[in-house]
Amino acid sequence: MSDKGLATADEVCVEVSGLWKIFGHNPEAILESEETRTAAKETLHEETGCVVAVRDVSFKVNKGELFVIMGLSGSGKSTLIRCVLRLIEPTAGKILINGEDVCGYDNKQLINLRRHSTGMIFQHFGLFPHRSVLDNAAYGLKVRGVAKEKRYEIAREVLNKVGLKGWENYLPSALSGGMQQRVGIARALANDPDILLMDEPFSGLDPLIRRQMQDELIALQSEVHKTILFVTHDLDEALKLGNHVAIMKDGDIIQMGTPEEVITSPINGYVRSFVQDASPTKVVTASSIMEQPNVLLYEWQGPKAAMHLLRTNHLDEVFMVDRAGKLRGLVTLERLIELFRKGEESLAGAVDTDFVTATADAVLEDLFPLAASTGHPIAVVDEDGKFLGEIFDSTIMISLIQGRGEEDTGSTTTRANGKDENL
Ligand SMILES: Nc1ncnc2c1ncn2[C@@H]1O[C@H](COP(=O)(O)OP(=O)(O)O)[C@@H](O)[C@H]1O
Ligand SMILES: [Mg+2]
Repeated sequence: MSDKGLATADEVCVEVSGLWKIFGHNPEAILESEETRTAAKETLHEETGCVVAVRDVSFKVNKGELFVIMGLSGSGKSTLIRCVLRLIEPTAGKILINGEDVCGYDNKQLINLRRHSTGMIFQHFGLFPHRSVLDNAAYGLKVRGVAKEKRYEIAREVLNKVGLKGWENYLPSALSGGMQQRVGIARALANDPDILLMDEPFSGLDPLIRRQMQDELIALQSEVHKTILFVTHDLDEALKLGNHVAIMKDGDIIQMGTPEEVITSPINGYVRSFVQDASPTKVVTASSIMEQPNVLLYEWQGPKAAMHLLRTNHLDEVFMVDRAGKLRGLVTLERLIELFRKGEESLAGAVDTDFVTATADAVLEDLFPLAASTGHPIAVVDEDGKFLGEIFDSTIMISLIQGRGEEDTGSTTTRANGKDENL
């Protein structure tokens, strides 16, 4: 699995608070009384003709994070991300981007924000049909007045990044849907924005291509570390891509959390009905279930010390690390006994290097085949091979059972807007 880790933790890039968007005549009137503020979307529509598209929404997106806004069609996702750039004017609320109040921006500042700091990617690609792939990718730079040679150079670079080298001179119509969306992504990346806003970018693609594009986005993100607001109506996509997921219903964010929190502690029946089909195998990570062994063997210890360690701790096997904490092997009681039988002095002969490792972000689904391929615990290591913890078959089975059908405890879950809806 690719790295979903955050580039810079805890540095807020986008902060939305108390955001409302009400379409229709005199929307402010709805905000004036508590009764209308809390009335159902349907009721308000019947009584006032107004549509509450976004209702008192608050969230924060950290720098370098992929934040998913998930919900059914009509739940307010597109309105919400358009409000962030003021492509739709919010009715009320506050939007801070990199600490600046976007609602106070004049036209010039807004244009600057849209051209330089942000990039938008839509479901229907939005490419110019009569311009080449290269011209499409370079379009944003052209608008910004970047000289032809320079903008083509950058466009070639980003097209290369999204795997479209060699397609520069084709028209979009010659490309498949997935490839056209890669052009859309390249065009957004060409501006080197801080923030990417993606509105159901993969929803129009075939399932297989869609999964491939998701994988590519994860790989790309581990390279570019953009702050991404990603809209989808697909839960699997949300859980796969998001560092955090916000679930919307009728304009409200009804639950926010990590994919794991959402799936293991759905806040109410509505979210539960979404996630009941989603398998914990796709979200529960190695780092969340791994255990710290009571003992570790160090490379410089001898066979007698190893034997002592295993005996006193009643173990059959122990992982061995070097001074830097890197995993070097697995020493089993069986091999140690064999070593003593042969009268060997060095521990090296008892070190099994044929152990199985997983990265911290591997999910249960990735761990099953690993567990099946070995009779030993799985070692969890970081990218430098440093030992982080171990996972037993039994732990995998238990987390599989616990991840399913549990009543929500709410303990690990951030409640959006502090509301408690029971649907
Ligand atoms: N321009 C508009 N005028 C009136 N109602 C709108 C307008 N745009 C969206 N809506 C309504 O706002 C709600 C949210 O829409 P939208 O943000 O497009 O949802 P989503 O992207 O989640 O499908 C829907 O009820 C939709 O009908
Ligand atoms: Mg939409």
